[in-house]
Amino acid sequence: MRINKVLLFVAMSIPAAAIADSTQPQQVPRATVTTDTAMVSAANPHAVQAGVNVLAAGGTAADAAVAVQMMLNLVEPQSSGIGGGAFMLYWDAAEGKLSTFDGREKAPASATPAYFQNTEGEPMKWWDAVVGGRSVGVPGTLKLIEHVHSKYGKQDWSELLEPAISKARQGFKVSPRLSKSIESAKERKLDMFDSTRDYFFNEDGSALAAGSYLTNDDFARTLRNIANNGSTPFYTGQIAEDIVAAVQTEINPGELTIDDLANYDVIEREPVCVPYRAYEVCGMGPPTSGGLTMGQILTLLNNYDLAAMGPSAEAWHLYIEAAKLAYADRGMYMADSDFVSMPDGLLDKTYLASRAALIDPAIAMEKAEAGSPPSKDGLNFAPDLQIEREGTSHFSIVDQFGNIISMTTTIETGFGSRVMTNGFLLNNELTDFSFKDMKDGKPVANRVEGGKRPRSSMSPTMVFKDGAPVLAIGSPGGSRIINYVTQKVIAILDWEMDLQAALDLPHVVNRNGSTDLEADTTAIDYQPALEALGHKIKVRGLNSGLHAIAIQNGELHGAADSRREGIAAGF
Ligand code: GLY
Repeated sequence: MRINKVLLFVAMSIPAAAIADSTQPQQVPRATVTTDTAMVSAANPHAVQAGVNVLAAGGTAADAAVAVQMMLNLVEPQSSGIGGGAFMLYWDAAEGKLSTFDGREKAPASATPAYFQNTEGEPMKWWDAVVGGRSVGVPGTLKLIEHVHSKYGKQDWSELLEPAISKARQGFKVSPRLSKSIESAKERKLDMFDSTRDYFFNEDGSALAAGSYLTNDDFARTLRNIANNGSTPFYTGQIAEDIVAAVQTEINPGELTIDDLANYDVIEREPVCVPYRAYEVCGMGPPTSGGLTMGQILTLLNNYDLAAMGPSAEAWHLYIEAAKLAYADRGMYMADSDFVSMPDGLLDKTYLASRAALIDPAIAMEKAEAGSPPSKDGLNFAPDLQIEREGTSHFSIVDQFGNIISMTTTIETGFGSRVMTNGFLLNNELTDFSFKDMKDGKPVANRVEGGKRPRSSMSPTMVFKDGAPVLAIGSPGGSRIINYVTQKVIAILDWEMDLQAALDLPHVVNRNGSTDLEADTTAIDYQPALEALGHKIKVRGLNSGLHAIAIQNGELHGAADSRREGIAAGF
């Protein structure tokens, strides 16, 4: 891993320009930021500032995560917040231990496999299912950050909420990305409910423009309540009652009950780790498919000298083939392992060696079939390729004690279900389930079931060398997340790219179908060579939001995806 030390960013105070102007145009090229003590990389400068201030006051990564998440909820409301869910990797430096926390949303206890089907058993159209209370799962993000704060935090919970409370009262400038997102979500019924129409639109019905001031007194009140009382009002009190009432929308009413909220738990799960070259790459296990699918792709590619190939059509061909094979297994087997007996051998070395043998360096395979991984419970599934949209955010944090957080956080599609209560949006995460429950007489692993967590693609990741952490990384991007994160890990580890350059490397994406090349980038230069190998190519915008911190020789190197509005900063 090579880092170009371009800029020493001595920042407890982030330059006003960076913050005021998250009104900057997007796609501003950035440089890797280098500091030596602590750092935050996240999708909005206000959130980074809130986190860096906590770290500068002696807070831990767990403390900073509270401030960052609450600020993101306010200033990037379309992507994440307490109305959604999240996965977190936590490196405890003192213990030398990696823990992973599942704050994924949960289906109501009453939900059945026919939840998104009409009376004839036909699946609903995806967008028809998104809008309204039916798509809302029990949110987990608030309980997740509270849980991790109670385990690893040092600072007072209520004080960590103050920056978001005062920003909500004083107001913040709408960023260009938020303004654009409101504009495009208008076509998707964001203005259908009074609360979202009043908050995100002008009186004449136009979307709030970039640079306009937005205050959120309801959210300030909610945060004050949570500052004083923790998550209790959210899961069993006034906010819980308001959530249950809010999901009773005229179209698509939901089934969430007070008991569903009261019974929600954060689950600590085993990390999913694979060896890759001289490193160990660790991620989150089910209900996200992120760690396992990344683990499969990297294990398949361990057979090839990608370092010698560099970023080239030859290397991308191998990457695409490995991704097809891994996504095929993802579609067939991966789901909430508390409900589905997934094969235990998805990362089995012998199995993956047999899968690697299917890769022909000279010709592209058609769509890959799922394999037959070792399984003590037998394999009896039908494939599911449920789509996931791109309303998600990722942040990485390193504190002065060496603790690290890699957290991906979401309300699913941009603006979630569009249902807003108490100043925050509720997720539409339940549309990450397969709407079909059976195919060819076999059950779909990711079908809806009461109390189950929908399969995710979120891939918060940490990389270790000789047992020490060297990288925290993750991204939004729906089911493309796995591609975004995996290939940036390859760019950093194999191609020794500078961190910012790695994040900005043009994307080549395959989810076991045609290959997406990122429009308006040098990725399209690979098109002729990839087509000659038999790949079907689509050129399109690919909107990742990678936020990463690398640790090397006692220094921290941070980068924020130039495709979005975030920054990395620290001291
Ligand atoms: N809803 C995006 C994901 O969970 O992957």
